[in-house]
Amino acid sequence: MVRANPAAEYYVTQRWDLYTKENHEAWRRLYSRMVPSWRRYANEHFLKGLDSLCLDPERIPRIKDVNRFLSPLTGFQARPVSGYVPAFVFFDCLRNREFPTTITIRDAARLDYLPEPDIFHDIAGHVPMHTNPAFADTLVRFGECAHTAVELVSDIQDEHERAHRMTNIIRAMARFFWFTVEFGLMKTRDGLKAYGSGLLSSHGELQHAIESPDVQRYPLQIEWAINQGFEIDHYQPLLFWVDSFDHLFSLVDTLERWMREGRLNDVAGGEPAVNETDLLSFARATQ
Ligand SMILES: [Fe+2]
Repeated sequence: MVRANPAAEYYVTQRWDLYTKENHEAWRRLYSRMVPSWRRYANEHFLKGLDSLCLDPERIPRIKDVNRFLSPLTGFQARPVSGYVPAFVFFDCLRNREFPTTITIRDAARLDYLPEPDIFHDIAGHVPMHTNPAFADTLVRFGECAHTAVELVSDIQDEHERAHRMTNIIRAMARFFWFTVEFGLMKTRDGLKAYGSGLLSSHGELQHAIESPDVQRYPLQIEWAINQGFEIDHYQPLLFWVDSFDHLFSLVDTLERWMREGRLNDVAGGEPAVNETDLLSFARATQ
């Protein structure tokens, strides 16, 4: 039996006509202040992706326009959602080359304060990376890991043990995602450059991540990353770098192997919290 796409219930339509003048102004200001930082601190694949997408610096993009440029390059598509998408559903979207994309934008009066992702983070921070085939393949590979997790826990009869195992695997995956896709750095001939979207959409943190002596930067080590908690409400004090997206892809392969070997079953506790909705999304996939 072919399962219905679990993401379908989260997808919405982007009513572009409902954005206000202030909304577009927020986009314009966010975009214009990022441009010099992108040129200086973003990795070359991001800059190339930004060119390929032809984003309008003045206006919030129409997602269907973004997809016209994006899809032919890697098959990825941005799909509008209204808010939080549970962990399994999110990872499954990546596997299907779909990227859940928030359509709201932050308040123009508080450009720096961002408790949740918004369309600037998702479209200007993430989507340019999805134009790169090696990075896109890495996201798909990561999405496949969620299916491996489901396969591994579905035979466990004991409910408590199943939830324990799942909580640890989700936490490990969330940490890996955080330290790579959201806050990853890449070593290049010109020094460290950002490819993580949390950095690429943050005016203050992008420079801080590359230049501040307060940030520790290490080559990505899986055992460290999956056991390392993180907090989302301040600049990251610890970042990891990779050599290339092929390198990152191979690390996702290793992550999956470790999952199969049981090495994600008891990671260190702490952030991020794994909520009921995330657990339920995996439980549903086992049925
Ligand atoms: Fe993000």
